[in-house]
Amino acid sequence: MIICKTVDSLHKVLGTPVYNKATIGFVPTMGALHQGHLSLVDLSKKHCSLTVCSIFVNPTQFNDPKDFAKYPITIEQDVLLLERNQCDILFLPSVNEMYPEGTAPKEYYDLGYLENLLEGSFRPGHFQGVCQVVHRLLDIVRPNSVFIGQKDYQQCMVIKKLVELIGMTETDIVIGGILREPSGLAMSSRNMRLNDEDKAKATAIYQTLKFIEQHIQHGPLLPLLSIAREKISEAGFEKIDYISICDASTLQPIETWDGREKLVALVAAFLHGVRLIDNQLLN
Ligand code: PAJ
Repeated sequence: MIICKTVDSLHKVLGTPVYNKATIGFVPTMGALHQGHLSLVDLSKKHCSLTVCSIFVNPTQFNDPKDFAKYPITIEQDVLLLERNQCDILFLPSVNEMYPEGTAPKEYYDLGYLENLLEGSFRPGHFQGVCQVVHRLLDIVRPNSVFIGQKDYQQCMVIKKLVELIGMTETDIVIGGILREPSGLAMSSRNMRLNDEDKAKATAIYQTLKFIEQHIQHGPLLPLLSIAREKISEAGFEKIDYISICDASTLQPIETWDGREKLVALVAAFLHGVRLIDNQLLN
């Protein structure tokens, strides 16, 4: 695997004649890699002839400075995992390389209502930061396809909207499924901050999503949501940002289901200060 720490060195590698006709698959990450990230590398390798993964803990998408400060960094292990998974190129830029003119936003991305619901409402500014960094990365890497995870359901919608806004509609956005621990816990870099006991408690999110999937009926959904909320609180989560059942294609919350709309249930909750998110398509 070739490791490029600067834009120039990446462009030099991508410009070499061997990669002339390559189709570039791109997997953007913030590192602390796990099987979920690696499944996206695998997906890229299946679709494209050259896979570029980036690791960059983007300061501009953290609305909570404590979360940024505690974000796990395991770069040596990440390099080993990417090599083992035959990733072709790792782009590993510094903050200066990514934002040579400083981190202040240069443009506003009009994400419409997506910006104000669920993650948007609990993490103000988060999606502007995601757009800022993904826009910059797409400009640098110029991929044919980008591989992102359903784990961050709303982020997938935001990135699709972003490529529309910046006119990169020829870039394919491919969404990979959620990889889970055998317990059902969705893999996440933030799980590294949980001890074994917390990890066992954290499975309540997945169990609750499955409970919703099994018990959903057309009609009012609020009674089911309040049982779900109780289950997560009882498991020891100190704060639930949201637990919501939404239209799977627009993310608009659904209070009464007609039995036909495609639905997704989404959860964000804190366990011992660690914010976990997960989701499940319901029908
Ligand atoms: P990060 O949290 O590192 O995630 C990188 C990619 O891995 C995202 O597309 C995410 O949805 C996917 N992913 C995370 N957990 C997963 C799991 N359990 N199964 C499958 N895929 C999973 O998301 C980001 O970084 C950043 O916001 C980024 C897009 C890189 C911009 O900074």
